[in-house]
Amino acid sequence: MQTYLHGRDMITTQEWTKDELNTVIDVAIDLKRRRALGELHPLLDDKVLAMLFFFSSTRTRASFEAGMAQLGGHAMFLDSTATQIGHGDTWKEIGDILGRYDDGIAIRQVDWGIGNEYIRAVANASRVPVLNMQCDQYHPFQALADLLTVIEQKGDPRKLTINVSYAYASSYQKPISVAQSEILLMTRFGANVRLTRPPEFKLQPEIVAQAQENAKKYHGSFEILEDFDEGMVGADVVYAKSWGSMVTTSDHEESAKISENYTDWIVDPRRMEMADEDAIYMHPLPADRNIEVTDSVIDGRWSRVFDQAENRLHVQKAVMALTM
Ligand code: CP
Repeated sequence: MQTYLHGRDMITTQEWTKDELNTVIDVAIDLKRRRALGELHPLLDDKVLAMLFFFSSTRTRASFEAGMAQLGGHAMFLDSTATQIGHGDTWKEIGDILGRYDDGIAIRQVDWGIGNEYIRAVANASRVPVLNMQCDQYHPFQALADLLTVIEQKGDPRKLTINVSYAYASSYQKPISVAQSEILLMTRFGANVRLTRPPEFKLQPEIVAQAQENAKKYHGSFEILEDFDEGMVGADVVYAKSWGSMVTTSDHEESAKISENYTDWIVDPRRMEMADEDAIYMHPLPADRNIEVTDSVIDGRWSRVFDQAENRLHVQKAVMALTM
């Protein structure tokens, strides 16, 4: 276990060692237990987290804000459109100035080709830890919550086949960051990871290469499939969600048009019956109901989506308590 994490940024789990990630999971379980017992745990008394959002959120905002209150601190919500960023505040001004007011800066900026770069630039200018609430490439807190959920529900990930799959959605071209963070983190923990996606919905080649290296190093496996049903067969965890074809085209309209070829990539009971008999279904939410996944699956016996959403709170509190 690595215990000195004060001052560290969390931009991608890939930049934290396995020991450090184990510490996060251990502390998250402890904080979850303490909350269940009603034990106060004001580990961040008087500390303030600035939360800067360039994109909408339900779970991320609510769980960071609740988490800071439970840790004895305060979370300051900043909608980018209500700041002076549109009138010229640069990443340097945001990082340096918010770093002087606050004890941590959390940012959601998912614009393709911009988000990760922006968060890293703010981190470079800031004297306090910067936490990635989702960028164009990574969603580290979602992946950490999902790892905790998998461990709670299924045990040691080394025994598991986890199918990280594309599914069709019509609402908008969702970032690829969840799928990328899932394949990176689950391979670190030795799972047998399948990435199932149509040819136009590739992930970034450097991320895929990192997942392949992780699988080799941690004695799991990593394979890429292009057949939706094949990905389901025998899986212990079905993690199927939509994402845009950003790697193929950054044009959202073109991506939406390509996705129309895959409207049959919907998780339904027939597909879940192809998985292991004790398989679970996971999704970070929000989902396009009856388009990405049927009500009967997301509300059915397989679903663990509410546990995933709850675990956002516990892993985020762990990282904040360790870093801020
Ligand atoms: N899963 C997730 O990040 O949810 P929100 O977009 O609602 O924050």
